[in-house]
Amino acid sequence: MHLTRRNRILRQSPAIRAMVAETIIRPSDFIAPLFIIEGANVREEISSMQGYYRMSIDNTVKEVKELWSMGIKCVLLFIKCKDELKDNKGTEALNSDGLMQRSIKAIKDACPDMVVMTDVALDPFSTYGHDGIVEGQEIVNDATVEVLSQMSVSHAKAGADFVAPSDMMDGRIGAIRDALECNGFTKTGIMSYSAKYASCFYGPFRDALDSAPGFGDKKTYQMDYANRIEAVKETLMDVQEGADIVMVKPAMVYLDIIREVRNNVDVPVSAYHVSGEYAMIKAAAKMGWLDENRAILESLTSIKRAGADLIATYFAKDAVKLIS
Ligand code: PBG
Repeated sequence: MHLTRRNRILRQSPAIRAMVAETIIRPSDFIAPLFIIEGANVREEISSMQGYYRMSIDNTVKEVKELWSMGIKCVLLFIKCKDELKDNKGTEALNSDGLMQRSIKAIKDACPDMVVMTDVALDPFSTYGHDGIVEGQEIVNDATVEVLSQMSVSHAKAGADFVAPSDMMDGRIGAIRDALECNGFTKTGIMSYSAKYASCFYGPFRDALDSAPGFGDKKTYQMDYANRIEAVKETLMDVQEGADIVMVKPAMVYLDIIREVRNNVDVPVSAYHVSGEYAMIKAAAKMGWLDENRAILESLTSIKRAGADLIATYFAKDAVKLIS
């Protein structure tokens, strides 16, 4: 044969493959989600997320220092609210001495350079497990946005670098930006869950925080997985309203959406490799059906290749160990 172009030339050795690799994942790409609970020296494994833990503040602080030493620059905080503190108004979400607010302070005290992002939504605080205030069977928009704005200010006061609204109410980014401005928090960023789909892949997370919806589902606020153009609409609106970083969630079943969003906005795009995506890899690996380490690297690289600048993933630590 006389071929002009032989593509295998660029694949023939590890050195050449490394030279021409188009996508490289690095520690500063990752956002490490953390689940925080009350108590001292607590570290309990989440049954549906093997190898991932709920931790009390003291252990969380140790974890954050370790993540920082590994080169991970950002954590995303979720708290598990005690049942007796839950209501339908988000009262505990606004408590300046609440678990979230104490966690932010403790982390920023111990590791001031770590970028701290906080989840803003009512589900962990809601007796109904919904992301907003419930009236009858409805999750009401505007009253919820008011609470989310106050919640964001409360997180900013505690020292959060970014608030991350994950609720999918309309108009919340503009309202949060305005509330931050009004309270002088001109350096607090917003990472918006802009295109968040109503997905079955959040199941293990809801176990972790005991936050499954008590009735119905989240389809009146989270997006229909059949839709792509709507993701662009949602994201462009969030950018207009003041989002600094936008997000697509979940990640691997939505690689097309990540690419679509990346091609349409002028801000960094993050993707959330969610609990169910983590659990699938863990379960298959446990059965011996997948090589876990290779599955981690291939998955995270695919998310970045699709266009994500940042990846929230429960594999952040594993990935850093694998690439260093
Ligand atoms: C809730 C929230 C969810 C996740 C992040 N924030 C669950 C939901 O919307 O029900 C899911 C994260 C994951 O599955 O890893 N505001």
